[in-house]
Amino acid sequence: MKKILHIIAAPRGEESRTLKISNAFLDSFKKKHPDYIIEELDLFKEKLPELTVKRVNGKYILLGGKDLSGEFQKAWKDIVKHITRFLSADRFLISTPMWNFSIPYVLKQYIDIIIQPKYLFQYTGQGVEGLVKDRRMVIVTSRGGDYSPEGPAHSYDFQEPYLRAIFGFVGLTDIAFINAQPMDASGPQVQEEKVKQAQALAKKLAEAF
Ligand SMILES: Cc1cc2nc3c(=O)[nH]c(=O)nc-3n(C[C@H](O)[C@H](O)[C@H](O)COP(=O)(O)O)c2cc1C
Repeated sequence: MKKILHIIAAPRGEESRTLKISNAFLDSFKKKHPDYIIEELDLFKEKLPELTVKRVNGKYILLGGKDLSGEFQKAWKDIVKHITRFLSADRFLISTPMWNFSIPYVLKQYIDIIIQPKYLFQYTGQGVEGLVKDRRMVIVTSRGGDYSPEGPAHSYDFQEPYLRAIFGFVGLTDIAFINAQPMDASGPQVQEEKVKQAQALAKKLAEAF
C-alpha cells in the first residue's frame, strides 16, 4: 500500500487550528485515496535523537564521500531510522503553526536529523542533487497574524520560504501551502471564518493530491 506521512509539529491537540485544517484535508484524502495508509509522526510526542558531537561528525564523514562504520554507524542508527521512515512515504503532509516567524523547534530538529548527504541529497559535478524524487507535499500552517503577500507583514514570513527552500533542496519541489491567518490578531470571528476557508481549500486540494 502507498503511504502518506503526516508530520505533526502542532502540540495543542483538539485545540489546534492547524490540525483542524489538516484533519479536513485527511478526511477528503481518505475518501479519494482508500489505497493509502496514513501514518502519523507526532514530533512533540516522539523522542527525536539529539545531534551529539559524534552524530554531527558522522555527517562530515558522509560529506567527505565515505560511508559510516564502527562507532559512527552505531551512533547514526536512530538517525537512519528516521530517514528510512521519511523515505518510505509517497506523499507528505506537514502540520505546523508559525512560531516566532518560523517553525516550532521540534520541526527544525527533525529537519536537522533527516536532511543528510547520501540519503536525501548529494553533491555532483553540476552542484547539488536532491534525492527525494517524484513526491508531493502539502504543508498546513496557521499564524496569529496575517503574512499574506499583499499585507505589510509579508517580509516577516520566514516559515513558508524556509520550508520551500529546505524541502526543495532535497528534490521536493511540488509543495502546496495552506496558510490560515490571522488566527489571533483580529478576534474569534475572523479566526473561525479563516479556519473554515482553509478547511474548504484543504478539501479541494486533497481531491487533486
Ligand atoms: C511559541 C509561540 C510562538 C508564536 N509566534 C508567532 C509568530 O511569530 N507570529 C504569529 O503570527 N503568531 C505566532 N504565534 C501564534 C500561532 O502561530 C497561532 O496561534 C497559531 O494559530 C497556533 O496554531 P495551533 O492552534 O495549531 O496551535 C505563536 C505561538 C506560540 C505558542
